Amino acid sequence: MRREASLPILKSLIIAVFAAGAALLLFGKLRAGGDVSNVIIIVITLGVAVLAFALGRLISLGRAWCVLIAIATPSMVLVPIYQPPTWIFPIIFIGLAGFYINGVREQVPLYLSNRKTQKTLADLLPPDTNLTFIDLGCGLGDIVTHVANARPQARVIGVETAPLSFLIAWLRAKVLANSNAEVRFQSIWSTDVSNADVVYAFLSPAPMTRLNDKLRTEMKPASRFISNSFAIPGAEPDEIVSVNDTRETQLLIWRM
Ligand SMILES: C[S@@+](CC[C@H](N)C(=O)[O-])C[C@H]1O[C@@H](n2cnc3c(N)ncnc32)[C@H](O)[C@@H]1O
Repeated sequence: MRREASLPILKSLIIAVFAAGAALLLFGKLRAGGDVSNVIIIVITLGVAVLAFALGRLISLGRAWCVLIAIATPSMVLVPIYQPPTWIFPIIFIGLAGFYINGVREQVPLYLSNRKTQKTLADLLPPDTNLTFIDLGCGLGDIVTHVANARPQARVIGVETAPLSFLIAWLRAKVLANSNAEVRFQSIWSTDVSNADVVYAFLSPAPMTRLNDKLRTEMKPASRFISNSFAIPGAEPDEIVSVNDTRETQLLIWRM
């Protein structure tokens, strides 16, 4: 399971180094033949972004990782060419931290539930109209938006503490989802789950034991916890639902 969390980082790094290396080689060859115009540099930079994104999709990296490498790889090309002022680096760092801070703080990076998983999850929800659904660590709000629209009678809550992810999820919930969606800037650990009928999480192996302790203490009888991919050590799920997608997602379900 730990491989699951570290593999995307490794794959992203390999793609970024490969694509940026190829672009810099091309740039070196063109410059050997004379001055290279800014238009050519922009074309190479856009090309490398598309190449990085396409390679990511080709090896089934999640969309968030593909977007990240499509942004990071052109920077790896532009920095040696233009040698920008050093203040730009802290700004890039702060921008990335706005999405990935919980990778450091909680060992839970940002990656997103894909469309098939969103649909499978919505189909799994019990039919009752007063359902309360919580996504712990809602990322960019894909699950919150999808479930709120698929189940307009339900109350759908997402919590997130990575500032830029929260902002995007909050905006998406306001603009794209029904009014039954709510996104809060709140930690998983201070979220009250006692009223939830279904709690969903797509985190990493690191917080699962602590999360299990919290949910077992707080969730009401007959409610359900659904974990995307990550098991609770020592607690067999009551049900496993396979999503028919390329990453062979499994939804692990425990009844409280
Ligand atoms: C793997 S992403 C899943 C995103 C979303 N649930 C989905 O399935 O598309 C996990 C998210 O949990 C967030 N997260 C991690 N620890 C958290 C905490 N203690 N409180 C709130 N959010 C947290 C991360 O910032 C990240 O956006």
